[in-house]
Amino acid sequence: MNQLGVGIAITGSGSATPDVSLDNHQLSLMVETSDEWIKSRTGIQARRLADAQVSLTQLAARAGKNAIAMAGITPQDLDLIILATSTPDDLFGTAGQIQASLGATQAVAFDLTAACSGFVFAMVTAAQFIRTGTYKNVLLIGADILSRWVNWQDRGSCILFADGAGAVVMQANECDRFLGFSIRSDGTQYKYLQLAYVPQNQELVKGIEVGKGNFQPIVMNGKEIYRFAVQKVPEVIEKALFHANLTTEDIDWLLLHQANQRILDAVAERLKINSAKVISNLANYGNTSAASIPLALDEAVRQGKVKAGDAIAAAGFGAGLTWGATIFRWGRQS
Ligand code: ACO
Repeated sequence: MNQLGVGIAITGSGSATPDVSLDNHQLSLMVETSDEWIKSRTGIQARRLADAQVSLTQLAARAGKNAIAMAGITPQDLDLIILATSTPDDLFGTAGQIQASLGATQAVAFDLTAACSGFVFAMVTAAQFIRTGTYKNVLLIGADILSRWVNWQDRGSCILFADGAGAVVMQANECDRFLGFSIRSDGTQYKYLQLAYVPQNQELVKGIEVGKGNFQPIVMNGKEIYRFAVQKVPEVIEKALFHANLTTEDIDWLLLHQANQRILDAVAERLKINSAKVISNLANYGNTSAASIPLALDEAVRQGKVKAGDAIAAAGFGAGLTWGATIFRWGRQS
């Protein structure tokens, strides 16, 4: 233990996506749009979509299993499972079902919701438990099935969102590899991106009503979210780098929430980070919300791009509004 507390390492990654892929051309048969428009405005070419037979629990458990295997531990070694999601199978929480599915009998499991920042917020939450010596082995999963909540008639948003799951294992480690973070929220701007519950009065007995309603499909002001992301994400990365005592020059990989290629490019440009260091897989997967960062990380690790010891600046942003960044080195040792 150093003066900060117990050291932390990110030792395994995993991911899972539904088999079904919908490309831009197929989307253009549903709403007035084109492959050219979507590609040039977002960089997205196709997205994976879950049908009714696919559950969030299944995707998340598959991603988690892969991450556990890469970390070289067993489900019984896990002390904690955090599921970052906005689209649980059960509003009471879905992490418990994942715990049961993995057979992680010793782990406590809970959900955490911070939209597309969920995975970064979960990393920071897990780090607190490890730093203080409370837990040693934590599985974090970011998973979302946003297709269930998209308005498929709204061409301004249905082109973006998709389904998937990604996971990492964070462990207590002699050498500290979790170098810095900064997380923020601004609820005054919540209206720019909502998946809101809209209650309608139902009378139980005379004079007593309850608000029984439904969640309404996603409503987004794309321009405002774009503006917010391009301004706030570089700021929060700079802040996390300051806490890590590093500069952008020390960073090997910029790993942003995969929302829009133009946002990725603009953030990299503001931070003066070379585009070769920007991890991007949104062309094939679209915006998978809480899953997008670990999904892109897992792909880059398995392709051999991200290597042990590489310094990564990860940043999420989205509904809430929420945003945040973590700085870490991949793997147990350099
Ligand atoms: N196909 C064709 N035309 C379209 C489409 C479409 N799919 N969507 C909008 N248009 C039209 C608009 O109607 C508009 O036409 P008009 O000028 O005649 O009114 C024109 O294209 C320009 O529309 P804008 O909304 O200005 O397009 P913009 O360049 O801003 O791109 C986009 C829209 C892609 C949504 C962009 O604003 C964006 O990516 N914003 C960020 C959104 C985001 O990342 N959200 C997720 C956050 S993460 C989370 O928490 C879930």
